[in-house]
Amino acid sequence: MIKKGMIATLVFMLMFALVGCGSSTEKTATTEKKITVVTDAAFAPFEYMDKGEIVGFDVDLLKAVMKEAGLEYELKNIGWDPLFAAIQGKTADMAVSGITINDDRKQTYDFSIPYFESTHMILVKEGSSIKSAKDLQGKVVGVQNGTTGQEAVEKILGKENKNIKKFENTVVAIMDLLNGGVEAVVTDNAVANEYVKNNPDAKIVAFEDPEHFESEFYGFMFPKGSELKQKVDEALKKVIENGTYTEIYKKWFGTEPNIESLQQ
Ligand code: ARG
Repeated sequence: MIKKGMIATLVFMLMFALVGCGSSTEKTATTEKKITVVTDAAFAPFEYMDKGEIVGFDVDLLKAVMKEAGLEYELKNIGWDPLFAAIQGKTADMAVSGITINDDRKQTYDFSIPYFESTHMILVKEGSSIKSAKDLQGKVVGVQNGTTGQEAVEKILGKENKNIKKFENTVVAIMDLLNGGVEAVVTDNAVANEYVKNNPDAKIVAFEDPEHFESEFYGFMFPKGSELKQKVDEALKKVIENGTYTEIYKKWFGTEPNIESLQQ
């Protein structure tokens, strides 16, 4: 026999369960947190500070990709070495910073599909005797610490060479070149060209050496096993295919991108 009191209790329990369910689904929706994206904003034209804002090619591309993916995010300028620590320690969800995809980094991090092809360039003062990568031998050479530029110079001068001066960021490395602390700086080609273009009075020249500097590709970086990678890859593919990438590329580089080189 079911008593009235029991029915009342059951109805009450059922209501409680329903209300409980409703509020818990709402909770997951509102607590889905903003994605934290980290960068080193001292790498024009990819990311740099302009009137207190982080701007650049990477910043525009990130915006387009996240919009396409329907993801909310916050971009934080934390610096180059801290950026790797943040992704490894999972205190950030994603990094965008002209980061080269390579086998070494792939052991610790996940990367998106490539979005930019790069190589290295040598920056020297006008009239310098350094005309090729080989000429760097015996010279004090500046690089940003922990970059592929550092690796490229180590290949030429040897890993333990004391003449390789490592800087926290690329801007201070170039300042040291201006001040005569280093005789050359090796950095990514678009960054070297941007510096020369924006500082005609600095009397700095940039040149390539395809014999010594290989081509490499930038990607967005994630913690290993991140679920974000797939969403970002899909959105990035769309942004490349629908012409948004080309628009952003033209805005920052003034030329048409070679999209085929990204799709190899
Ligand atoms: N592409 C080079 C690398 O991945 C240099 C990138 C430096 N980026 C920056 N925002 N400082 O090692």
